[in-house]
Amino acid sequence: MKVLVLNGPNLGRLDLRDSNIYGNLDFDGLKSEIVSAGKELGFVCDVRQSDSEVEIISWLHEAADTSTPVVFNPAAFTHYSYAIRDAADMVKAPVIEVHLSNPMSREEFRHTSVITGVANGTIAGFGPDSYRLALLALSRMAN
Ligand code: DQA
Repeated sequence: MKVLVLNGPNLGRLDLRDSNIYGNLDFDGLKSEIVSAGKELGFVCDVRQSDSEVEIISWLHEAADTSTPVVFNPAAFTHYSYAIRDAADMVKAPVIEVHLSNPMSREEFRHTSVITGVANGTIAGFGPDSYRLALLALSRMAN
């Protein structure tokens, strides 16, 4: 089964972000961890990243139109993009929200997620394993 793994702004530059928060993997490293974790569970992961709200919305429309499950790290859009929330709400296949860090233990503006209410679940704070755990949850939901 195909899974769209969508990543929001600045995640393409993980190697330049605070390694105490985001770890030492660059985005290509994260991508290969996700692809191999997916493969172990029988998924083909299509891992994408964009800094553009418009592009992320178009990918969510694609997921809605093709009933494709989504593992979704909306990055900073998590905290304020109602347009992305509305697009995610149209996806009837499962949507799992993920974060590398634990936003609840960080600055107050990160304590709000406008995505959580339209996601099937949220996994945060486990670095790349947040994605692995989300894929595991998806495989349990599919069986
Ligand atoms: C993030 C957390 C967000 O608050 C932040 O804006 C990000 C990354 C995470 O994966 O921990 O860019 O989504």
